[in-house]
Amino acid sequence: MKYGTISGLDKPVSRLVLGCADLKDTAVLDAAVDAGVNAFDTAHVYGGSEELLGRWLKGRDLDKLVIETKGCHPTPLRPDRVTPACLVKDVETSLRRLGVECIDLFLLHRDSHHAQAGELVETLNDLKKQGKLRAFGGSNWTAERIQEANDYAAAHDLEPFTVSSPHFGLACQIRDPWGGGAGCVTLTGADREGERAWYRESGTAVLAFSSLARGMLSGKISAADPKRADKLDAAGRRGYDCPENWERLRRAEVLAKEKGCTVAQLSLAWLFHQDMNAYAIFSTGNPARIAANCGALEVALTREECRWLNLEADGR
Ligand SMILES: NC(=O)c1ccc[n+]([C@@H]2O[C@H](COP(=O)([O-])OP(=O)(O)OC[C@H]3O[C@@H](n4cnc5c(N)ncnc54)[C@H](OP(=O)(O)O)[C@@H]3O)[C@@H](O)[C@H]2O)c1
Repeated sequence: MKYGTISGLDKPVSRLVLGCADLKDTAVLDAAVDAGVNAFDTAHVYGGSEELLGRWLKGRDLDKLVIETKGCHPTPLRPDRVTPACLVKDVETSLRRLGVECIDLFLLHRDSHHAQAGELVETLNDLKKQGKLRAFGGSNWTAERIQEANDYAAAHDLEPFTVSSPHFGLACQIRDPWGGGAGCVTLTGADREGERAWYRESGTAVLAFSSLARGMLSGKISAADPKRADKLDAAGRRGYDCPENWERLRRAEVLAKEKGCTVAQLSLAWLFHQDMNAYAIFSTGNPARIAANCGALEVALTREECRWLNLEADGR
């Protein structure tokens, strides 16, 4: 395993982060720790995930683990929850469910046109001063909005956002996988080079979610399979099913074979070659796949191979 550092957090963070949105069984948590993974991604809205993680955390050395959770996600009854009041409420709920005194990384799960970045930064700083959070940031926040929050923090002598969790990975996200319209933010796509450059320059940590495109680039589906799209779930089809991404999978299959690694390892390796302070959040219900996916950190790619995989060049 390789570890990185996130400003505000005084412990290392594994480059692979186990996604816990669909956590059903703690066997994957044990397998993750055995593989050197110390970071776990959960959220206030992930059903019983926080509670299950909290039960598993009991008696463990929290100094060695990094728990990241998210709050302020909209609900059908309350579409706009990106407010200081919901933030305080969700942090309290997550602390209780996780059974911890302090959340290592706390992220605002979504952004909202109505949200005032400054008042959220003030509240996040208050929660940090109270010892309830270590570092914080946004998930599905654009670089522009994070910069707005950080400009406010700089002007008021406050702590800035140091972590962000957008979608990122080799497969381009073509639509919001959950159909919510403007709620999901991806760093993929030719028109987001400015966004990616901001991360490279600022060093803001990127916790890339759905880094295997909901399984499309995991090796469980073959690019040559005529029924390939049917093997994705509805979110996977909405978010990633397009000819360009199937071509990315085909190229990943070719290169994985040549390098003697798996397609999942190759896809994740691409993310680690983007010159960012990047961490890959992936999920699996299969404990045996965790150590295998961590092998991504051993796969070396040239710049030309990365460009070819991402359809930026015809040769490599
Ligand atoms: N912040 C946000 O808004 C947001 C949004 C979406 C997701 N997330 C986070 O990101 C995490 C991961 O995203 P995700 O679950 O959407 O998608 P993902 O990690 O890109 O893909 C998960 C799929 O990949 C398969 N897979 C993983 N490793 C594999 C391997 N070695 N071989 C074959 N198949 C493999 C899994 O199948 P098996 O289970 O069969 O192995 C599963 O179907 C979530 O759990 C959540 O924590 C955050």
